[in-house]
Amino acid sequence: MGHNLLQGKKGIIFGALDEKSIAWRTALKCHEAGAQLVLTNAPVALRMGEINELAQAVNAPVIGADVTNMDDLKNLFESSVAHFGGKIDFILHSIGMSINVRKGKSYTELDYGFNQKTLDISAMSLHRVLRTAWDLDALNEWGSVVALSYIAAQRVFPHYSEMADAKALLESVTRSFGYHYGIKKKVRVNTISQSPTRTTAGSGVKGFDGFINYAEKMSPLGNASSDDCANYCVSLFSDLTRMVTMQNLFHDGGFSFMGVTQEVLNDMEK
Ligand SMILES: NC(=O)c1ccc[n+]([C@@H]2O[C@H](COP(=O)([O-])OP(=O)(O)OC[C@H]3O[C@@H](n4cnc5c(N)ncnc54)[C@H](O)[C@@H]3O)[C@@H](O)[C@H]2O)c1
Repeated sequence: MGHNLLQGKKGIIFGALDEKSIAWRTALKCHEAGAQLVLTNAPVALRMGEINELAQAVNAPVIGADVTNMDDLKNLFESSVAHFGGKIDFILHSIGMSINVRKGKSYTELDYGFNQKTLDISAMSLHRVLRTAWDLDALNEWGSVVALSYIAAQRVFPHYSEMADAKALLESVTRSFGYHYGIKKKVRVNTISQSPTRTTAGSGVKGFDGFINYAEKMSPLGNASSDDCANYCVSLFSDLTRMVTMQNLFHDGGFSFMGVTQEVLNDMEK
C-alpha cells in the first residue's frame, strides 16, 4: 500500500519475536508506509536471532531492552534519538507474558511472586516506557503510543487467567498517562483490543483453538488478522487520527458488541 501515511515519522517497535508476532507485521507495514524504525525486544528474545531478518527487511537497528529495566529503557530511548537524529513520533508496545500461565498455575492458585512479574512485564511496562520518554522528553508533539490489549479486560475468559487483570491495568495506565501526556505535549496513548491471533503469546493460552474458533463464529466480519491489526496501528500512528486518545479501541470484526450469531445458535441447536 503506497500511501506514505508515515513518511518522515520515526518509531520504536517493541515485541517482534518471529514473523507471526503482531509487532513484526506492524514493523513491515510501518516501513511500507514510509516510517524509519528502531526494533527492540528482551535480550533473551534477541538471542533467538530471528529479529535480524526483520531488521534487514525494514532497514532498522535492533536495540535490546528488558522492558522491566529502567536503565535498559533509558539506553533504548537515548540510542534511538541519537540514531534518528531527532525525537520519536510513535511507539508500539506489543508485549505480554504470564508467568503463572507459563508455569501451569490456574487463576485460583496464582503464585503472587510470578503475578508481580506478569503485571510488571505486561502492564506497568507501558508506564515505564512512557515515563522514560517523558523524563528524556524523547517524543515529538502529537506523538502516538499504541499498546495491545484483549477483551478479557472487560469479560471473563477463564483460561486467560491473570492476563485479564494485566490487560485491565494496561488499559487503565493508557487512560491515566494519556491524560498527563496529552496536557504536556499533545501525545496520544491508546490500546487496540485485538481478536485472538495465532502467535507465540496467543497460542500459549489454554483452550486457544476453541476460543479463536468461537470468536470467528461470533464476529460478523470474522477475526481480525495480525496484518489487519498492523494496518490499524499505522492509521493510529498517522496524522489522520490526531484527536484519538485514552481509548481502548476494539479491533475484532464486531465480536465485542455481539450477543449471539446465527452460526453459534446453529451449533447450540444441533
Ligand atoms: N495473540 C493474540 O491472540 C492477542 C490478542 C490480543 C492481544 N494480544 C497482545 O498482543 C501483544 C503481542 O503479542 P503477540 O500475540 O504478537 O505475541 P508474541 O509472543 O509474538 O509477542 C510478545 C512479545 O513480548 C516480548 N516480551 C516478553 N517479555 C518481555 C520483556 N521483559 N521485555 C521486553 N519484551 C518482552 C516477547 O519477547 C515477545 O516479542 C501482547 O500484548 C498480547 O497480549 C495478543
